[in-house]
Amino acid sequence: MGASIGIKGVSKVFAGHDEKGGVVALDNINADIRSGEFVSILGTSGCGKSTLLRIIAGLDKATSGTIFCGGETVINPDPSRSLVFQEHTLFPWMTVRDNIKFALKSTRQYKEKRHEIAEWLSLADLESFADSYPHQLSGGMRQRASLVRTLAVASDVVLLDEPLGALDNFTRMTLQDELVRLWRERRSTMVMVTHDVDEAIYLSQRVILMSPRPGRVKNILDIPMSYPRDRASGDFMGFRVNILKQLEFAKTMQEDYTI
Ligand SMILES: Nc1ncnc2c1ncn2[C@@H]1O[C@H](COP(=O)(O)OP(=O)(O)OP(=O)(O)O)[C@@H](O)[C@H]1O
Ligand SMILES: [Mg+2]
Repeated sequence: MGASIGIKGVSKVFAGHDEKGGVVALDNINADIRSGEFVSILGTSGCGKSTLLRIIAGLDKATSGTIFCGGETVINPDPSRSLVFQEHTLFPWMTVRDNIKFALKSTRQYKEKRHEIAEWLSLADLESFADSYPHQLSGGMRQRASLVRTLAVASDVVLLDEPLGALDNFTRMTLQDELVRLWRERRSTMVMVTHDVDEAIYLSQRVILMSPRPGRVKNILDIPMSYPRDRASGDFMGFRVNILKQLEFAKTMQEDYTI
């Protein structure tokens, strides 16, 4: 079972490049993520989602406030919290298979998990590209390889920054199902940043809605539906409308439809 995460009064100000002063990327963020929970952070571009995830990972420091993971203060990155970045982070000089191998070796899990490599390659539909280098893959393939490489070594807490953002819709839905399956099997704590309202509803038990400039928590919504979820169900649509309204997009859509 994954660790709980406490986000307590986290603010982040980036220093400005000129006399105009800095950017308040995050302003007093508070949230408690339960052990083994799947939570999405949803908000428009620039509202501070990646910044918050990097601070949870220990890759960046908050200007004020604290992150707790399993009750302990987060100071530095730790292999128990793996992060899937918004852009793929494969090593260009290694094949897809070697990228996964390297990740397992560098976290000392190679012996124990080497037999899983084939399974991960198949999950990402990359078996026939296992010996290809990143530059020989499409953007979506690179993103899939990067995602499974992180999931292969994932442990307590998995932090995902738009992990499916670069994928076509159908691949995206297939991998959403795989993410749900993996999460339910392993019970890691999953925190996923997304722009996609449907993706947040399909995957998460709770959605943290953020508003921009400065980045704040607008609301935290429960999605009390059982898994696997049905994208076409009435409840699903209900949550969709609710979230779109809160993000102030629903009204615009209705106006568009009445033209
Ligand atoms: N290293 C940095 N230096 C200065 N400003 C930064 C830095 N990183 C982020 N920012 C600023 O902080 C704000 C939040 O950025 P962040 O990348 O967290 O947004 P986001 O919600 O992840 O956006 P997107 O959905 O486009 O990925 C933006 O205004 C951005 O310009
Ligand atoms: Mg981002």
